[in-house]
Formats: sequence, structure tokens, C-alpha cells
Amino acid sequence: MAKVLVTGGTGFIGSHTVVELQNVGFEVIIVDNLSNSNIDVLNGIEKITGIRPAFENIDCVDYVSMDRMFDKYNDIDAIIHFAAFKAVGESVEKPLLYYRNNLISLVNLLQLMPIHKVKNIVFSSSCTVYGQPDILPVTEEAPIKIALSPYGNTKQIGEEIIRDTIHSNPCYQSIILRYFNPIGAHASAEIGELPNGVPNNLLPFVTQTAIGLRKQLQVFGNDYNTPDGSCIRDYIHVVDLAKAHVIAVQRMLNEKTTSRVETFNLGTGVGLSVLEIIENFEKVTGVKVPYRIVDRREGDIEKVWADPTYANDVLGWSANETVEETLRSAWAWELNLAQRAQAE
Ligand code: WQD
Repeated sequence: MAKVLVTGGTGFIGSHTVVELQNVGFEVIIVDNLSNSNIDVLNGIEKITGIRPAFENIDCVDYVSMDRMFDKYNDIDAIIHFAAFKAVGESVEKPLLYYRNNLISLVNLLQLMPIHKVKNIVFSSSCTVYGQPDILPVTEEAPIKIALSPYGNTKQIGEEIIRDTIHSNPCYQSIILRYFNPIGAHASAEIGELPNGVPNNLLPFVTQTAIGLRKQLQVFGNDYNTPDGSCIRDYIHVVDLAKAHVIAVQRMLNEKTTSRVETFNLGTGVGLSVLEIIENFEKVTGVKVPYRIVDRREGDIEKVWADPTYANDVLGWSANETVEETLRSAWAWELNLAQRAQAE
């Protein structure tokens, strides 16, 4: 059974990817320092698949511990590297925290791979690398612009580190996946997005407001050059995103890649505004979301959505979930969290 190391595997996208990997027979090892996730996620994964993944509480920045981990699991076939800090606003306040964590963790992995004969790595990147694209929908050929935040810069630099490393050493193979906006939760409502503290991202703030944990949602600006004035994003179901990672690992293991670094946009190809998300959520759930328009948030781009043609054609992957189903799954997860809190 092929073995996949998933760093950040107790996180939002990581945990959903672990489930999809196990569903098709991969053996999974999770490395996570639980800095932005909870060990209980392992229970959720096990409830869904019946398999509790191996778990190592390690910080990927800790080279010696990571080296020992590779010795322990000495036949890893591929790595999916999620472990990174990802809050745009926090990265502006604490840039060195982001550069150290997000870049040293990647450099450690790339240094350890040839030592431990691991060839394949999937890198978690982001549409943030495009900044505000000049042309929409955005393709993989779009120019990489000056990052608007240290977070976005760590993704750009991370991609460059991978490309330079692989150019220097043919032993590696990498697939870079540029996510648009992941939202939603597994249909079981056993795992989902669980940000620590006040959510940075839109959807958890919407669902926490709908359930009454937050008084009111703040919409960051309605004076953008968009139909309703609020920002537009490409919201993709996290399970669709997870499935793309399985395909990427299989593609490398089956040696189907056409170059040693391949890069794909993972989005639906549809842009929705903040106000449209609120409207769709209220329609799907029947629950009002109190909100008010406030000033723009620093670092926000106006509008971005993917051209997913390349991933559709080359990976044979596409985002299948409707926005209604995606929003419904996010709400079901929030309701499950509330039930658990009441039971405690
Ligand atoms: C979406 C829209 C906000 C919160 C970032 C990263 C990206 C990815 C997801 C990790 C924007 C608006 C939000 C709120 C609001 N990171 N908003 N009120 O900034 O597009 O992407 O997070 O996976 O790489 O760049 O996502 O959900 O924060 O914001 O009005 O309380 O919702 O202004 O227009 P973003 P987001």
C-alpha cells in the first residue's frame, strides 16, 4: 500500500485530503504541530473512514525531529505539504513568523527528501500568487505579481524554491496546486473548518454569525468595481479540492507527469461576491445572517476566479459540488459543532 506523508494533516484542507487518500487505499501519516488545529480531528477522520491515520506531533521547522520521523516511516512514497500559517492579515502584522514557518518547513522537507529517498511532493499554493489579475478568469500562465501580503509572498517564494531545487536535482517530482477559496465540509459533518479564535475567512464567520456565536458579519467594502460592489472570489468545496490532491499523488506515482514541476489552478471557474455568498447561504439554510458594510480590508484584491481548464483537461479533475451544496455542508458542520458543545 503506497504511503503518503501529509504535513498539516489535522488542518482544514489536510484532514479532508487524508479522508480522500484513505478512501482509495493510501496509508497516511500525519505530521502536525497542532498550532492551528485540534487532535480531535483524528477522531473525525476515523469515524468517516474507519482508519485512524498515524500521527506525529512535530513542527516541520524542526529538522532533527523531521529527520527522525522519516527514519521511523522509512518508505514514504509521496508528501503533501499543507503545514503553513495562512492568515493574510496576521502575516502583515507578523511577517517573520510567516517567513520562518512557511519557508523553513518547506526547505527542511526538500533537504530531507533525497536523504530518505522520497521523490514526490505536492505543494499547497494559492491564487494569492496572482495578486489582482489583469485578465479574468485567471490561468496558470497569468503573471505572478508582487505579493500583497507576506502570506502571499511565502507561497510565491515557496514555488520558486521548489522550481530551483528541482532544476538542480532531477531526483524530485512536484505538483504545485494553487487553491482558490476552499469552503464547506465533509458530508458527514465529522470534519470541517475550525479556525482558532475569531475567523479570518468569510465562511466560518458567516456560519458562526448564523448560529449566534458572532453578533454581526462585517462585509469589508461594497465600493469595489463589481456588480454589487463587494469582492468576488472562486469558492470551491474543500472535498473537491481534496480529491485533486489524490489525483496529483497518483499522477506522480504512476509517472504520468510531463515535466518535473507541474502547476494547476484549483477552482470552480465561477466568481461569487460576498453579498451573493450571504444571499445564497440564507436561501439554502433559511437562516438570516445579520451584516453591515464596513471599510475595505487592507490587502484584499477586488476580484479573482479561476480558469480551471488546464486541471480539467490534464488532471481529469473538476469541481463538482454546487455552491448550494457547499454552503449547506458548511452549515451542517457548524450545527454539529454546536451540538458537540452542548453535549460537553
Ligand atoms: C473572502 C472575501 C473579504 C471575512 C485568503 C487567502 C487565500 C486562502 C483563503 C488559505 C474577501 C470578505 C472576509 C469577513 C468579509 N488562504 N470577508 N468579511 O482573503 O480571499 O483568501 O484566505 O487557504 O490564500 O488569500 O479569503 O475568506 O478571508 O475573504 O467581507 O469577515 O470575504 O474581504 O473579499 P481571501 P477570505
